[in-house]
Amino acid sequence: MIGSFRRFVSIGSFSVLGAIVAASAAAACGATSTEQEIDQQAQSVTPEDRMLIGIAEQYPSDPEASARTSEFAQSMKARREFGWRVVEKVLSPVPIAAPKLDPDDPDVSGVLPRFQTWYGKTDVVAAFDQLWVGMKAEDPAQVRDFRACEVDSVFRWNAEERPKNLSTWNRDVYNARRAELNDSEGVSSLGRNTRVLMSPAFVSHLLRNYRTLAGCVNKTMPLTQPPLSAENHTRCMTSEFPADAAVIKAGWEPDGPTFPAYGTSAGDIQSMLAAGTWPAPRAIAPPGPDAIYTMRALTSSTGQPRAEKKRLAALHILTKELRDWVWISLFWSEEPDLDFGADRPQSIRALGGPWSHYKMVVNTAYDEEDPDPGSGYADSAPTLASALRSARPNPPAEGSTVRTWASNPYIEREVRNGATNCIGCHAHGGTKLSVQGLLDDETQYPDNTRRRVRAAFPADYTWVTSQGGMDLGAIFKETLDGARTPSRLPGVQPRPCGMQPRAR
Ligand code: HEC
Repeated sequence: MIGSFRRFVSIGSFSVLGAIVAASAAAACGATSTEQEIDQQAQSVTPEDRMLIGIAEQYPSDPEASARTSEFAQSMKARREFGWRVVEKVLSPVPIAAPKLDPDDPDVSGVLPRFQTWYGKTDVVAAFDQLWVGMKAEDPAQVRDFRACEVDSVFRWNAEERPKNLSTWNRDVYNARRAELNDSEGVSSLGRNTRVLMSPAFVSHLLRNYRTLAGCVNKTMPLTQPPLSAENHTRCMTSEFPADAAVIKAGWEPDGPTFPAYGTSAGDIQSMLAAGTWPAPRAIAPPGPDAIYTMRALTSSTGQPRAEKKRLAALHILTKELRDWVWISLFWSEEPDLDFGADRPQSIRALGGPWSHYKMVVNTAYDEEDPDPGSGYADSAPTLASALRSARPNPPAEGSTVRTWASNPYIEREVRNGATNCIGCHAHGGTKLSVQGLLDDETQYPDNTRRRVRAAFPADYTWVTSQGGMDLGAIFKETLDGARTPSRLPGVQPRPCGMQPRAR
């Protein structure tokens, strides 16, 4: 746990500040708060919150997208228009469940941006454990893949039955939390600051591949290792993720006297790329809730009152609509209509107040094939045209090959992590490598990790199974090895495929 806390801290200075502020706020209120609790919060949606949110919404992928892969690689304009369209779907509002425990309870309704309904680590582990226990109940000697229908049904159980069967379940905590949903900042706090959230299709794919993912834990993955087949560029899964697999990483900034701000004009990008590293932020007055997506929670999962207010500074978005994924990042800005926000479409403005204050970068490939990424914006958005041109090195470092660029000032804080392109570093997802190890080794991982150096992508570009990320592979492996025994929840009957729950 301590190890993973350190990883959390190392991700960005805002998280360090977050941990310190959260710990001192908790201490001030007299609540018990440990590093462990903070770490868990950043990885978990509490059972009460899961019940209030309900089952996660699918990501509606675009079936036409993959046929446009080379168009996106060759045209920054096509790429950015597609990027904004993905952002619109990931942010679009969906209703929450907020079920009543008692028919006389007051009505509560609200909407969340789609991504906030998605699953955190605790949801995945709970679903895995339930499937495992169900499988063992069928035949204690058997170890097999989970069936599709079993995986499909586990999500409803996770949202509707699991919370009430936990020993920690408390109606009063649930109702107090439900009462906080009477205004939009309260609703926005559902799931709290869970950093990584995964779409249902993403989680289903992980669960259906638990055995092969477990088999990859702690394996050395040489760069030259070939893909499993022409249709499957992974090493650790029976197939690649489906197109509706999506995952986000959120950067929630804790409340404080100041808020960090970054410039991303052509000049700012040029000097950042020359240094390789994002500069220190400027401290500004914290923006209000109409200008930044803000959450406010009071009730902690233990029922202790603990004021929590956080602002969404950054959001990474990945979708598998393209074979090598779509890489998008949003970052908050004081000057939201300049450079990377100058082409924001009406569909995003229509989402309401805060969402028009984020700028967007998008990438779909290792190399920049658009000879002039600014050309599509020279007249319509000149500040964007010049920012895009400054992100394309001229002359290219290597012959005629130019690497792409996409990085978030709030998240890619490490030395040399500004001059990166998401995809080159994530290609190593599923391995034992670390961010530091990758960024420090320019010989093996050239252009600050931007160049493609791998023949296969062990976990299809995601870090969720590796130690450097959510470490789900280790949980699957420990369970298979018998080092971890998922327990059966009281009152819950493990249920074979297609059967209704039986009363006990
Ligand atoms: C130098 C390496 C590196 C770069 C560059 C990088 N990431 Fe990541 N990313 C990681 C690691 C390691 C994790 C897991 C640890 C964590 O959750 O912070 C991660 C986690 C994520 C996650 C959560 C899902 C997962 O795979 O664990 C998303 C989404 C994500 N990154 C998106 C992006 C996007 C978008 C960019 C570019 C704008 C980007 N990343 C750039 C290393 C990198």
